[in-house]
Amino acid sequence: MLVEEVMTLLNCQPGCVYVDGTLGGGGHALEILRRTSPDGTLIGVEWDDEAISEACNALREFGERAKIFRENFIHIPSVLKSVKIEQVDGILLDLGLSSLQLAKGERGFSFKEESPLDMRMDQRLAVTAADLVNRLDEKELEDTLTEYGEERWARRIAAAIVQEREKGPVQTTQALRRIVHQAVPRRFHSRKIDPATRAFQALRIRVNNELENLKGISETGWKLLKKGGRICIISFHSLEDRIVKVTFRRLEREGGLRIITKKPIVPSEEERKRNPRSRSAKLRCAEKV
Ligand SMILES: C[S@@+](CC[C@H](N)C(=O)[O-])C[C@H]1O[C@@H](n2cnc3c(N)ncnc32)[C@H](O)[C@@H]1O
Repeated sequence: MLVEEVMTLLNCQPGCVYVDGTLGGGGHALEILRRTSPDGTLIGVEWDDEAISEACNALREFGERAKIFRENFIHIPSVLKSVKIEQVDGILLDLGLSSLQLAKGERGFSFKEESPLDMRMDQRLAVTAADLVNRLDEKELEDTLTEYGEERWARRIAAAIVQEREKGPVQTTQALRRIVHQAVPRRFHSRKIDPATRAFQALRIRVNNELENLKGISETGWKLLKKGGRICIISFHSLEDRIVKVTFRRLEREGGLRIITKKPIVPSEEERKRNPRSRSAKLRCAEKV
């Protein structure tokens, strides 16, 4: 997604070092390695086991030039320390889910598939979406749906979940989807967006601690850049984009960063047609001064 735009902003050069903090299947990383040929280095960080396997395959041809770590991207500073690299030329974060995670129904991210309510991107995380749905009290459920899903019907959905789980635990994506569909008044069911979209987003964000992780790396990532090095962040919903925008602006005022994208870059019409998921993507970039 936004591959050409990211490459232009990162200005990848031979001999330079880049960090991809959300390696996924290795799409952006592959392009960085090609453009930094013959001696550039890519540090790839990813916390999903399955994505790591896919990226290792995709990047095998680059040998030692691609260094891959299974880590949460908030730990990029210690990853760099472990390979004795102090500063890098660019950092990329392409947030959200990979197509692999979405395609694998059994991971529980998609309400279109019947599967256990899991939603952990990193299989080592302790708490699943089912744990939250079955254990949070009604107020906490409502707050989670409001805070992370901006869900207008949070109170009704939380009440419906609590009522339903009295009969037995809510275990699957379809069970949750049915509860949400019944809780949201019929006349507010949109034809374009499934009524369960926001509830699923909210649970996924909480399971994976996504906003806290993003806040953490937005605060600290830029310090790892060389002067003139750039950080690019692609976000997929307004909660993420707000964090990036606000943090970049503050760091600019404090004299650490210069914002390169005054307005976020969005995918071209052609990319939006080719890949409907790209529609909500926003790319922001800033440079260390
Ligand atoms: C949209 S995909 C990246 C796709 C990749 N840019 C490509 O071109 O193939 C996002 C990836 O980031 C990973 N991810 C999300 N949050 C993370 C975190 N805190 N630490 C490490 N990886 C994370 C997800 O597991 C997912 O594989």
